[in-house]
Amino acid sequence: MSTRPQDTLTLPSGTVLKNRLAKSAMSEALGTVDNRPTEALNTLYGRWARGGCGLLITGNVMVDRQALGEPNNVAVEDYRDMASLKAWAKAARQNGTEAWVQLNHPGKQSPNVLSSQPVAPSAIPFDAPHNRFFNTPRALESAEIEALIERFAKSAAIMRAAGFTGVQIHGAHGYLVSQFLSPHHNQRTDQWGGSLDNRMRFVTEVYQAIRREVGSSFNVGIKMNSADFQRGGFTQEESMIVAEVMSDLGMDLVEISGGTYASPEMTGVNKKAPQKASTRAREAYFMDYAEKVRERVKAPLMITGGFRSTEGLESALASGAMDLAGLARPLALDADFAMKVLNGESVVSDVAPIKTGIKMVDKMALMETAWYTRQLARLGNGKQPMPNEGGFSSLMKVMATMSYRGFRTRVNRVAGG
Ligand SMILES: Cc1cc2nc3c(=O)[nH]c(=O)nc-3n(C[C@H](O)[C@H](O)[C@H](O)COP(=O)(O)O)c2cc1C
Repeated sequence: MSTRPQDTLTLPSGTVLKNRLAKSAMSEALGTVDNRPTEALNTLYGRWARGGCGLLITGNVMVDRQALGEPNNVAVEDYRDMASLKAWAKAARQNGTEAWVQLNHPGKQSPNVLSSQPVAPSAIPFDAPHNRFFNTPRALESAEIEALIERFAKSAAIMRAAGFTGVQIHGAHGYLVSQFLSPHHNQRTDQWGGSLDNRMRFVTEVYQAIRREVGSSFNVGIKMNSADFQRGGFTQEESMIVAEVMSDLGMDLVEISGGTYASPEMTGVNKKAPQKASTRAREAYFMDYAEKVRERVKAPLMITGGFRSTEGLESALASGAMDLAGLARPLALDADFAMKVLNGESVVSDVAPIKTGIKMVDKMALMETAWYTRQLARLGNGKQPMPNEGGFSSLMKVMATMSYRGFRTRVNRVAGG
């Protein structure tokens, strides 16, 4: 019998997900200026837990508070926030929901309002126009790489102690793990660069260090790119090899996305929405890759990006190309979207491309994430999303907030916070 959204899924850890719908990571930027979790996260995740998904994966949580993807990220590097992490996990685990934390380090993808000199595998700057937002990085020393691996492991142990039921390594979208995998961003000549075996050493060691800390019954997953969609970048063929290796090492879930800020395939900004119901099965951006990687990967497979309708979700799951469907923006506009699908309602999400009218901005992932982050803040404050908010006015507000928050983060660091 073919798989339906309502079916349970047993992971290698023994965890049983109550259905096949998962909330994929969306960076909430709802931490304090010194990157601690807040009550708004509890409200937001309580809302989503009641909304039906079997698994909620948090937005990226940083393993180093000196290396942030955005101001007001949550960062967890020690036990100082145990009480608020426990409250967050408890809110997210209502209603029989599994709750995992996505762990991340941005590498060079830390904006210049936050990092005067970020770190990366190699000292290679972004090309224009992204070099306006990110400073040129310096290459990590070997000892720093070892220390970063331990940071991932420690953050995972803290999350387990707080009551989360798993962690996900953020290996996608151009952040540090993905920089190590990419032959464009990683031009090291030591054991961390060069051949694919060397480029994937960082992520395999991060995984093994986490596993040593958390044991086999705690869930460890990875989100990876099907490709970087960039000349000289991480290719689809390499991605399939990495997916296979990570699966063989014992991953509980492999989530597939794709692209980077320079080529934002994960947001589908270059894709046209399918018009006809008959093509809805292909609404997911990475279905072709899923079908190819399926045979090579034993670990349960989650595909994220582009799912918009009950029909699309049902046919993608029925096709057998994946085990779990990931949803992001539809849940920012309707926290009950998953529940409606599970109840068999024929729903189509209102997610549509966000436009500012400024061509350069509209081609970037920045605008999509900025606009949706504002919707998450509304949900976290107990309000309804505001789907009609204009792209341009939202962009202006986000830029002002980002500069102000970046300034406050730097002041706080100088003050020793
Ligand atoms: C506001 C926002 C924040 C995001 N933050 C993250 C993140 O922290 N980690 C991550 O892996 N992906 C992040 N993503 C990407 C989503 O997880 C997902 O891959 C992408 O939005 C495509 O799925 P969708 O079409 O269902 O929205 C973010 C997306 C949005 C809109």
